[in-house]
Amino acid sequence: MTQESRRRLCIDFGTSNTAAAYRIGLAEPVIVPLGAGGPAMPSAVFADDSGIVVGHDAVHRRVQAPDAYEDSPKSRIDEGEIELGDRFWPIEDLIGAVLRHVHRTALRHSGLPEFDSIILTHPDKWSERRKGVLRRAAERAGISAGRLRIASESLAAAWYYVYRGHDVAGDERMCVFDFGAGTCDVAVLIRAGADDFTVTGSGGDNNLGGRDLDARMTRWVLEEAAEIDPELPARLRAPAAAIALADHVRSAKEALSDTAQAAIELPGTRHTLLLTRREFESMIAPFVDRAVELTRDAIARADAAGTGPKGPVIVYVTGGTSSIPMLQSALSSVGRVARIGDPKVVVAQGGLLRSTNVDVHDAAGAQQYAARPADPPRPATVDASARRIAFPTVPSGAVISGVLARSGQVVRAGEPLATLDSPSGRLTLDAPMAGTLHGLDLRPGVVAQPGVVFGAVGPADLRPEQWSQLHRAPAGISATQPAAPPQPAYAPPQAIHGQPQPSYPPGRQPGYPPVSPAGAQPIPASSSGINTYGLVGLILGILGFPICLGTIVGMAVTLIGINRAEGQRGPLLMTALGVNILGTIAWIALLIWSFASG
Ligand SMILES: Nc1ncnc2c1ncn2[C@@H]1O[C@H](COP(=O)(O)OP(=O)(O)OP(=O)(O)O)[C@@H](O)[C@H]1O
Ligand SMILES: [Mg+2]
Repeated sequence: MTQESRRRLCIDFGTSNTAAAYRIGLAEPVIVPLGAGGPAMPSAVFADDSGIVVGHDAVHRRVQAPDAYEDSPKSRIDEGEIELGDRFWPIEDLIGAVLRHVHRTALRHSGLPEFDSIILTHPDKWSERRKGVLRRAAERAGISAGRLRIASESLAAAWYYVYRGHDVAGDERMCVFDFGAGTCDVAVLIRAGADDFTVTGSGGDNNLGGRDLDARMTRWVLEEAAEIDPELPARLRAPAAAIALADHVRSAKEALSDTAQAAIELPGTRHTLLLTRREFESMIAPFVDRAVELTRDAIARADAAGTGPKGPVIVYVTGGTSSIPMLQSALSSVGRVARIGDPKVVVAQGGLLRSTNVDVHDAAGAQQYAARPADPPRPATVDASARRIAFPTVPSGAVISGVLARSGQVVRAGEPLATLDSPSGRLTLDAPMAGTLHGLDLRPGVVAQPGVVFGAVGPADLRPEQWSQLHRAPAGISATQPAAPPQPAYAPPQAIHGQPQPSYPPGRQPGYPPVSPAGAQPIPASSSGINTYGLVGLILGILGFPICLGTIVGMAVTLIGINRAEGQRGPLLMTALGVNILGTIAWIALLIWSFASG
């Protein structure tokens, strides 16, 4: 199976949230809408006599029977079996139920009968034993071992950053810092050739995450509650109250990333506590210090390894807990801090974005990681028979948001090369023809100027009308494309079609293959000019025949017309050509006859 036709799903099964994305061939990954109002769903499970329910359904059922509810099966992966309700459940069955739900939702959303491979991500530091549990859970979910791949969360995140154009340059190093609900993972990476990463240093803590911050805040709440009423902490620890309190505490923590203070309601009472950001920061300082220390350790390990560059470190932060401003400013003592993309879906998308040419995953567990270079090297020369390619008319303000292809890649006509974000929606720029890409120079963040040549594709000899079409955006996206102006002869029109933003498109994802022809607007071929050449050539060929010059000029006009028409010659031009050839033959015969006869 080729990269172009492969259909892959990546599931980021997290401690508190699970996210997923799928990718068809080389198209932009599509995020599976798992949440009620967002891309992720709770990783929670609820199990009773009637079976296992997961995600939001589990969260809704928890008040009925709190002891049948587990909000984080991932954090209990070492336990073999866990007690929910009145029985013990194998952990594989609980995780498998979450994976099955996500898999089915992704199939429904994509409209595909099945995915060719399913990638599950895991914290870097997971033991083989834990990864084994994940594989068995996948089997329980109906994902066969042959289709299963596993990948590290940090490396998946690294692919995402590179794909979005944030590659390391020179002797820089990338440090992926993933601070989620249950774990804190740090990996220092350098590029190993064009397609690989090498992890030169890693660190992390499988028992440090947002849940620890929640626990610290809950302790503070209970201490404050005891001041109000010594009996209150016991009431707040009762199952139903504890569930509600956990929600209030987590919401307050998340709010404090944006606000100076947050209220925490004490369930079952009329009391509310006010927590300021300053108090919160002093509470979580030890956790922040620990996270920074883990990062320094990982960089020190990379330095000690002695492999690769030792230049500046750019710390790419992901995971929900990395939203905390105090943490980000503490990390800036280690290197420049960057935060790219929605942390909930960085890993799920990144797991799909390894090199298009290398399939390095191994179902048995050994992994090597590859990534697409953002800035492919320009070749010294471009094949003379190749065609230069340029931006067609693009809406003003369109900016390259993603680069999907690279120089040296063999593409099919219509294959996406880049995505553009414009005020009227997301657009995809397609290869105008099949062939090998040369000197492709597409960089995220660059404004797309119509007519600017950005590469070449070839060698191939396709006719202009086969090249591409300008498509309207699909329903739901109000992209109105301006009419295409005449294209420069060297720059055939590119396919550009609207594509919904990755989040929640209506129904099945368009974008790959291109959107339905119902809304398609073909760029009109400029046939009127060609016909003029044909007509003038024909008139000169017939009327000009009495004088030799008329035939010569008629032939010249016809040949110019043919040249400009490239593949699209039409009957008028061909008639003019025939008449002028006959005229030329007649004149040559006449000349030979007149010489011969003296
Ligand atoms: N704005 C915010 N400020 C602080 N914490 C936040 C914010 N948003 C989310 N979080 C916390 O981030 C955690 C969830 O992050 P994420 O979804 O990345 O974790 P996960 O993938 O489930 O966990 P892990 O990767 O550790 O298995 C939760 O503890 C949540 O409360
Ligand atoms: Mg995570």
